[in-house]
Amino acid sequence: MADAEMAKRAVGFAAVDRYVTSGTCIGLGSGTTAYWAIERVGERVRAGEPIVAVATSSTTERLCRERGIPLIPFGERELAVAIDGADEVAADWSLTKGGGGALFREKAIALATRMFVVIVTPEKLVERLGAFRTPVEVVPFSVRWVEREIRTRFGVEALPRGGDTPFVTDNGNLLLDCSFGSIRDPVALDAQLREIHGVVATGLFSGLTDVVLVNGSDGGVESLAPRGDARPAVP
Ligand code: 5RP
Repeated sequence: MADAEMAKRAVGFAAVDRYVTSGTCIGLGSGTTAYWAIERVGERVRAGEPIVAVATSSTTERLCRERGIPLIPFGERELAVAIDGADEVAADWSLTKGGGGALFREKAIALATRMFVVIVTPEKLVERLGAFRTPVEVVPFSVRWVEREIRTRFGVEALPRGGDTPFVTDNGNLLLDCSFGSIRDPVALDAQLREIHGVVATGLFSGLTDVVLVNGSDGGVESLAPRGDARPAVP
């Protein structure tokens, strides 16, 4: 296995081993890092542990089914913990998410869970969000108008994901990837974007992260210490 994949596997497995307890309902994220958390949960379920999950995307649903992880609809039970990757983690633990297009369900689950554990490899750690384009989910009817509004209000590029073959989210919506550059206040930007009629959700996640797990230089997995306005870890 390549080193990069080994690093994702290490954080994914560590998150499940440290934070998932038997008998609980958990949220499972999307992407190549969350893949390894799903893999680990599958191993524990097949070993007989009663764990049920809510999936953040249709891809994660399929991976769970293939591994025998029982799924329940979102909202049916309290979520003890949710584990997900991120595209960027800022010093204040705000996140950019949605590189895989699952931002709406990922945010729904991050908002609802008692503990939100973010798993990343070190290159995802940044001082401020924004080098990665911010995904914005938009209802299809409004996409051209929202694209223009974002350009006019913020003076930035809003690129429809997929170009001529639009990427359609699990909710039947479209995505605009916006180049805001260095984002000073992700809370304010998220609110301003959601004020535009037609915007469903943004990939800016603030005040939701409880734990950040990242690969350490010694090959182990470290729990990052909170900085700035980061929400302190739930014990
Ligand atoms: C999907 C996401 C993913 O968590 C994010 O894109 C990170 O993915 P990966 O672990 O593959 O780098 O937000 O919508």
